[in-house]
Parts: sequence; C-alpha cells; structure tokens
Amino acid sequence: TVIPVILCGGSGTRLWPLSRAGFPKQFLVLSGTTSLFQQAVERINTLHRDSQNGQDKAIHLGSTLVVTNEEHRFLALDQLRELSSITASLLLEPVGRNTAPALTLAALYAQDALSSDATSSKTVDADPILVITPADQTIQNAPAFTSALQQAIAVASTGAIAILGITPSSPETGYGYIKRSGVPGSQGEYRVEKFVEKPDAKTAQAYLEDGNYLWNSGMFVLKASVWLAALTEFRSDIATATQAAWDAKTTDTSGSTSFVRPDKALFESIPSESIDYAVIEKCPGSKFPIQMIELDAGWNDLGAWDAVWQVGQRDGQGNVTSGDTLLTNTNNSLVHASTRLVTAVGVDNLVIIETADAVLVANRATSQDVKHIVNQLEAQQ
Ligand code: GDD
Ligand code: MG
Repeated sequence: TVIPVILCGGSGTRLWPLSRAGFPKQFLVLSGTTSLFQQAVERINTLHRDSQNGQDKAIHLGSTLVVTNEEHRFLALDQLRELSSITASLLLEPVGRNTAPALTLAALYAQDALSSDATSSKTVDADPILVITPADQTIQNAPAFTSALQQAIAVASTGAIAILGITPSSPETGYGYIKRSGVPGSQGEYRVEKFVEKPDAKTAQAYLEDGNYLWNSGMFVLKASVWLAALTEFRSDIATATQAAWDAKTTDTSGSTSFVRPDKALFESIPSESIDYAVIEKCPGSKFPIQMIELDAGWNDLGAWDAVWQVGQRDGQGNVTSGDTLLTNTNNSLVHASTRLVTAVGVDNLVIIETADAVLVANRATSQDVKHIVNQLEAQQ
C-alpha cells in the first residue's frame, strides 16, 4: 500500500499580503483554477492510473493523509470536498513544530490504520510506503512526475529512502542540495553522497558550478517503519515526544472524513525541526541508505512573488495580472487586485499586491525580502 502524505501546515510568509496566518499560501489559487494544496492532492492521486491509457496500475493507493494546523481544518476540508472521489484523513497539529513531527504523525497513523485493516480480512501490509509532498509547488508535466514517483516507490520498497531531485538553475539558498554519485541503478536512482539543507550563498554557488548537486524537491518516498527508525536513531527526542502526543490522541469521524488530534500539551513540547535537518542530512553514509531520482517535470516552488510571476500567464508586455487592473507602459510585472481597481503607469519589474487591508509594492528581484516586512509586523503585535 502506498499512502500519499500532504504536508500543508506552513505559513508562507513571503507571499504576504495574500498569504496570511489565517489563509496561508498553499490554500491560495496562484496558478490555474485550483489551489496549490488541491494540485498537490490531485497530483499524487493519479499515481494508480497509467498515464498512457488511463488504466489502473498495480499500485494500491491508500487514502490521503493531510497534515495541517488545527486552524486550517475547514479550509483543507472544503478544498478537499471540491475534488471528487478523494478520501482523506486530516491530522491536526495544535501548533506548528515543522515537518519532522508532522511526518511522524503520518507514519504512526499509517501503521495504525493498516494494522486495524487486518481485522477486516484485507491483505495485511502493516508497513506502508509513504509518498510525502509539500503543498507549495507547481509541476507542469504530470506524466513525467508520475513516472518519477513510480521509480521512487520501487526504490523505497527495498527499504531505502528515495528523494526526488531537481537540476538547479540558480544558486538558491532556500533549498536543500543533494550530491549524487556513481552510475544510476535499475530504476535510474543515484546514491546520495551528501545532503546539505539551505547552504549559504557562496556554498550554493559552488554546488551549482560543481554539476553533481541537485535541489531537493521536498518530495520523499519511504516506508513508515524506515522513517520512524531513522528518526529514533538521529532525533530520539522528537520520536519519543511525538509518540507520546500520538498515544494521547482523539479522533472525530464524520462521514468519510476523520479529524485526528494529537494531545495539545504533549505536542507543544515537541522540539521544532524539519525532516531535512532532523534526518535527511544525517542519512548519507549511515545505515539508512538514501537514493535520488531525478525529476524533470517543470517543477517550481512558489516560494516568493517572483516565482508566481514566473509560472503565471504573461501577456505581450510580460505582465501577469489578476483582478481588476489597468496598466500602461508597464512591463514584466505581477499585479494583483483583490478589492478595487489597481493601475500602473510607466513602471517595470514590480510586484503590486492589493488586498482589503494591506498593499505591497516590491521590486520583483528582491521579493524574497517580503519576509522582513512580515517579521516587523509580527514584532509590532
Ligand atoms: N503539517 C505541517 N506542519 N506542515 C508544515 C509545517 C508544520 O509545522 N511547516 C511546514 N510545513 C509544510 C509547508 O506548508 C510546505 O508545504 C512543506 O511543509 C515544506 O515546508 P517549507 O517551510 O515550505 O520548507 P522549505 O521550503 O523551507 O524547505 C523544504 O522544501 C524545499 C523545496 O521547496 C526543504 O525540504 C528543502 O530541502 C527543499 O529544497
Ligand atoms: Mg517551501
């Protein structure tokens, strides 16, 4: 059994003012007609279909696990209901403790759910394969994505950790870097020699020039038992604390959906750490082998406004607009109007985002720095 796990409890501060604490970016419709979260759910749920002829593949997909913040349960639920034929369980965190505890909840849930299935005469597979994906990305080529995932699933079924890598195009400092080595195996997988999360600018530049480093897409495929063993090995504090919060959970089921809540006080006491720092950086050379599959499918992480402009529908002047806008002699800009007419004259390379209570005007090239505004706003509260 393969279980899709969608991590969507982040806050997306660099897409302020559209992305807010109460409505973070993964739930926004930023490209196309569905939100980034909905795209992530749908993308994984096509896995059991053959991209060529639409027939069912041998992969048995379990129901989707959505790990998010308690505050966003209705947002997630409403958006899930807009997608037909997708069954999901929502694992709700009382506070964000980053992705390592979030994935641990999913691994514990997947093991419990499948071992209780054993009572209902189904084939017992108490060690499901988890396909973990962030909810803040776009992918253009769906068939290429599906086949990379199928390769990764084959690798993970041998007990290895499979990670999807992207050929880098710039010295990004917001990503993890995967150093691959040797010749590829039968699934096109490469041994990962080193993993470095968020290097400084100088190191990122050196990795880009080296040619053997790929960006971490943030998508991993591994058995639930492998994640739990690796976490116990490298961060037993997180493993123990998350297990305790899980053991004291409550479950609310209505219709086909369940809300599962770990204990609040116990969850709050879990150290905050990402999957990458807690485990992945420590795997190369350890008893937890890690293998990389290259993903060449038009991947884009919508980290900042510039990326939204990059993936958007550009007009003849290179502008991407949404809402009520009017532009003259304006080029290569992203202009969004939420509540009123927004106009621009004679400006280039800008980001202009209008909402009911805040307006952002930024240079597109430095749109990453919007996070400093959010930090200052938080400090004032
Ligand atoms: N449930 C839950 N709880 N989800 C979370 C939490 C949390 O506390 N924090 C973040 N997430 C979700 C986000 O919503 C996002 O979908 C995903 O987990 C990844 O978190 P980010 O905060 O966006 O991570 P990042 O972008 O800094 O780095 C990761 O992704 C990069 C690629 O986009 C790393 O895996 C990097 O190595 C990678 O290159
Ligand atoms: Mg991200």
